Amino acid sequence: MPVEIRAACPDDIAPVRTLLADLYDATYAPILGSDRALELHERWHAAEALACQIDQERASFLVAQEAGGRIVGHAFASAVQAPLLFFVRLYVAGSAQRRGLGSRLLDALAARHPDTDRTRLYVVAGNDAALAFYRAQNFTIVGEAEEAGVRSLRLERGA
Ligand SMILES: CC(C)(COP(=O)(O)OP(=O)(O)OC[C@H]1O[C@@H](n2cnc3c(N)ncnc32)[C@H](O)[C@@H]1OP(=O)(O)O)[C@@H](O)C(=O)NCCC(=O)NCCS
Repeated sequence: MPVEIRAACPDDIAPVRTLLADLYDATYAPILGSDRALELHERWHAAEALACQIDQERASFLVAQEAGGRIVGHAFASAVQAPLLFFVRLYVAGSAQRRGLGSRLLDALAARHPDTDRTRLYVVAGNDAALAFYRAQNFTIVGEAEEAGVRSLRLERGA
């Protein structure tokens, strides 16, 4: 089924939250435990916070929508520190993974911020599938960080 990538609107918040809840459980419960995965989802993805991000300046809040209407992907990036572009979230529904959608979302984010020449993101330590994906996108590990007790790897690439 064809999938369109577009800027989000307020009606997308509920399906994006559902997508994030499902993917936080699938991705982080095996690494951090289900309770912690749920706690982090609730901390970072409150509906009001996501709604503010849609309107945020120098940022892109994208969704990937199947022709039938289902939201199967979401990505959010901020260029507030341009020329540094910061990828905050990139999530593709399990049923839609390995079909190039993550790559398309990532390219769409970069294309919307041509004033940036370096991209940074964090991957939770132990999320080996995401690490493999970002390595395939020419990112390299440049450091580590810890936020809310979660250890992450910092990845970067040039434009
Ligand atoms: C990581 C994620 C966004 C990748 O999206 P995707 O649409 O599945 O990725 P693509 O189809 O564009 O993959 C492109 C390439 O990345 C690599 N790759 C992607 N997923 C991979 C995996 N699970 N294992 C190994 N390599 C992988 C492959 O080289 C792939 O090319 P190929 O399918 O021709 O072999 C998606 O798997 C996802 O949402 N995962 C759960 C949430 C998550 O971890 N998000 C990232 C948080 S930092």
